[in-house]
Amino acid sequence: MLRNSASHYGYVARTLHWLTALLFLLAYISVYYRQWFTEARTPENWTALQLHLSFGVTIAVLVALRVYWRLTNPQPQPEPGSALMHKAAHLGHIALYGVLIVMPLTGYLGTGVATEYFFLFDIPKFEDTWLFQTVVASSMGLSFEQFEAPMDFIHKQGGAYVVWLLILGHAGAAFYHHLKLKDRTLLKMLGPKKTAN
Ligand code: HEM
Ligand code: HEM
Repeated sequence: MLRNSASHYGYVARTLHWLTALLFLLAYISVYYRQWFTEARTPENWTALQLHLSFGVTIAVLVALRVYWRLTNPQPQPEPGSALMHKAAHLGHIALYGVLIVMPLTGYLGTGVATEYFFLFDIPKFEDTWLFQTVVASSMGLSFEQFEAPMDFIHKQGGAYVVWLLILGHAGAAFYHHLKLKDRTLLKMLGPKKTAN
């Protein structure tokens, strides 16, 4: 089933979820490969950065689809649990959606180079856009360096610490539900074929 039901996330929500998780992994691998294993100003260094930008922009496109799908679909019934547990899960999901929006946004706004390999398109760097020139530079009177600094700070500190800890907590909670509580939380995200009921 494409749409969510009371018992499962549908095919679209599941595909978007797992594809995003894979792209997150690839975004991390590409950026840390660049930082740890390549020399500055080599072709590998540039390609790894461009891959990071493309994975990140793809996540941005998927999250837009995902938010639309989330708002137009029913949510599967939560598993039995305390009100506190449900509240924590809900807040955790909101925080993850926050990350899914803030990371690509701050990545794009704080990057001084264009994205070259986004499928068939080149995406101009923010500094070259009408929005930057008229709103940020002319109206707010900021140079790109001034504007970029806080974006970079959020993107890099968030990416290096907050984001992966949140994801680790999220995946840990999913496995805790599956292995310890033995409920259907993880199965709901794996699809009806994985469950007997
Ligand atoms: C969800 C998507 C994204 C995640 C999880 C992510 C994560 C990260 C991480 C972990 C770093 C390294 C932080 C550090 O230096 O310790 C980083 C750096 C960076 N990111 Fe992203 N990023 C994402 C999307 C983007 C996007 C869309 C762009 C731009 C279009 C971008 C541009 C950059 C740039 C330019 C750097 C600095 C690279 C370097 O100094 O080697 N990121 N990102
Ligand atoms: C191994 C990694 C992962 C596992 C095992 C996993 C597992 C799950 C499970 C079981 C659910 C359903 C929870 C429920 O209905 O109560 C879920 C939902 C969700 N996951 Fe993940 N996840 C993983 C990675 C990620 C990543 C990398 C992100 C993005 C940053 C993410 C974002 C979300 C969001 C936003 C939801 C809420 C979906 C909604 O209700 O619209 N997950 N995940």
